[in-house]
Amino acid sequence: MNRNYMRIRNRILRKINSWHGAAICGGIIGLAAGILITVLCARSVIADEREKFLADKGSVTEQTENPEDELTKVNATADDSEASAKESDTQDWRLILVNEDHPLDASYEPESLTSVSETCQVDGRIYEDLQKMMEDGEAQGLSMYVTSAYRAYDRQVEIFNQSMQERMDQGMTPLEAYQETSIQVAMPGTSEHATGLAVDIISTEYDELDERQGDTDEQKWLMEHCQEYGFILRYPSDKSDITGIIYEPWHYRYVGKEAAEEIMEQGLTLEEYLLS
Ligand code: DAL
Ligand code: ZN
Repeated sequence: MNRNYMRIRNRILRKINSWHGAAICGGIIGLAAGILITVLCARSVIADEREKFLADKGSVTEQTENPEDELTKVNATADDSEASAKESDTQDWRLILVNEDHPLDASYEPESLTSVSETCQVDGRIYEDLQKMMEDGEAQGLSMYVTSAYRAYDRQVEIFNQSMQERMDQGMTPLEAYQETSIQVAMPGTSEHATGLAVDIISTEYDELDERQGDTDEQKWLMEHCQEYGFILRYPSDKSDITGIIYEPWHYRYVGKEAAEEIMEQGLTLEEYLLS
C-alpha cells in the first residue's frame, strides 16, 4: 500500500517537474518572441507616423502652391533649370541624403578613408577642410576633438543594440527602448556616419553627448563658422520633426561650402535643402 502510494507520488512529482521545465522554456521563448514582435510593431508604427507626417507635409505644399499656378507657368523656364540643378545635386557625392527614408546603398564605400586620429577616419575628400576647421578653432583658443567619424554597418548595429539594452536595463519596455534609441541613434543602414562625411566633434572641457554640449565655446564657434569649411549642423534643435533625430550639437556633416553656406544661413536641414 505504502510502496504503491510512493510510486504514484513519485510519478506525479516527475510530471510536475517536466511541466515546470517546459513552462520555463515556454516562458523564455515567449519573452524573446514578445521582444521581437514589439520591436517590429514599433518600427511599423513609427513608419506609419512618418508616412502620415510626409503626406501632411505634401498636402500643405500642394495647397500653398495652387494659388501660384499662374506664376509657376510664367517661371517655367527658370524652374526647369532649377529642377535640373537639383537633379545634378543628387548625384553630387557631397549631397548624399541618408536618413530613415533614404537608407544608404549597401554597396556605398567612402573614398580613401583617411585617419584623423587613432580611432577615427573620414572620407579622404573632406580631410583638408576638416583639419583646417579644427586648426582654426584651436587658433581661437578652443579645444575640441573628433570623437566619432566613419562607422561601418556592424559598428552601428553594436551602438544601436547597446543603447536599446541600456534602456531596457533601466526598466523601459522594448518598445520604449526602441522609440528612445531610434531618435538618437540611426538604425543601422540609415546612419550618415557610414558615408565618412559625418563627424561628432566635442569640447575637451565638456565631453558629454547631450544638449549642454551646445553651450560650450567650441560648439558656439563651430555653429557660427562650420559652413566656411563646408560643414553643417546636421540635427538642429528645432528640426527634429524633419530629421527624425534629436538636437545633436556635436554632429557635423560635410556638404561642400556652397550648400553649407545656404543651409546654415537659411537655417535649413539637409532634407529641406534637397527635397523642398
Ligand atoms: N547619431 C546619429 C543620428 C547617427 O547615429 O547616425
Ligand atoms: Zn554623429
